[in-house]
Amino acid sequence: MKIYKERDYEAVSKRAASLVANQIKAKPDIVLGLATGTTPIGMYKILVEKYNSGEISFKKVRTVNLDEYRGLSDTDKNSYHYYMNEILFSKVDIDLSNTFLPNGMAKDPEKECQAYERLLRSLGGIDLQILGLGENGHIGFNEPGTAFIEKTHLVDLAESTIHANARFFENIDEVPKQAYSMGITSILGAKQILLLVTGESKAEALAKVINGPVTEEVPGSVLQRHWDVTIICDQAAASKLGEV
Ligand code: GLP
Repeated sequence: MKIYKERDYEAVSKRAASLVANQIKAKPDIVLGLATGTTPIGMYKILVEKYNSGEISFKKVRTVNLDEYRGLSDTDKNSYHYYMNEILFSKVDIDLSNTFLPNGMAKDPEKECQAYERLLRSLGGIDLQILGLGENGHIGFNEPGTAFIEKTHLVDLAESTIHANARFFENIDEVPKQAYSMGITSILGAKQILLLVTGESKAEALAKVINGPVTEEVPGSVLQRHWDVTIICDQAAASKLGEV
C-alpha cells in the first residue's frame, strides 16, 4: 500500500486528480471504476478543469460505477446516475455510451447483477478503481459482514449507512434500503485501486483498513490483499493511524 497523507481535502483532491489524469494520458481508453459520495467531488472538479484546459480528454475513456440505489431512476436527483451526469459526464467529452452504472430500476435483481459482471468482463476488467470509505469501513456498498467472495450483488444497507446518507435526502424514510454494488471480488479484480479518505469521521475506519486484521467485518481491510493500492487521505482521517 502506498499512503499519501495530505494537509486537507483540497490537497487530497489535487493529488487524486493528478494520479487519475496521468493514467488517462497513459491509456486514453482506460476503464475507470468510479465512486460517488462527497469525498471524490473535489477530484472530479479538478478533472473537469484539466479537461477544460486541454490537458486530458475523456473521448475514449470507459467508466463503470461501483454502485447504485435500488429503486431510483437515472433522473432522480439522489441516484448515482444523476450524480455522475451532474458532476462529471455532462462537463467533459465522454461518450455516454461508454459509461455504465447498475440499473436501479431493473426488474430482476439477479439478472442485473449477472449482466453487470458480464459487462466488467467484456470491458477487459477495470484499470483503475476509485473508492471512498464508509464510516463503518464499507467500500462501494459492501457492508460489514459481506463475504469477500461476493461479486456484484443486491445489498441490504446497514442502518448506519442509511443514517449517514440521509443528509442527501428530504427525510430518512426516503433513503432506499437496498442498493446494487460491485462485490469485493469485483473490486479486487481491478489492476490498480485508489482509496480516498477525508475527515475525522473516517479516522477509525481508515486505521482498521490499514493496520487492522483483514476481516469481513471491515470490508476495506481486504485492500491489504491487493497488489497495487494507493491511499490518499487528509490529516484528520489519518489521525488514528497510530492507534490500531
Ligand atoms: C456511500 C457510497 C460509497 C462511498 C461512501 C462514502 O454510501 N456507497 O461508494 O464511498 O459511502 O461516502 P462519502 O464520501 O460521502 O463519505
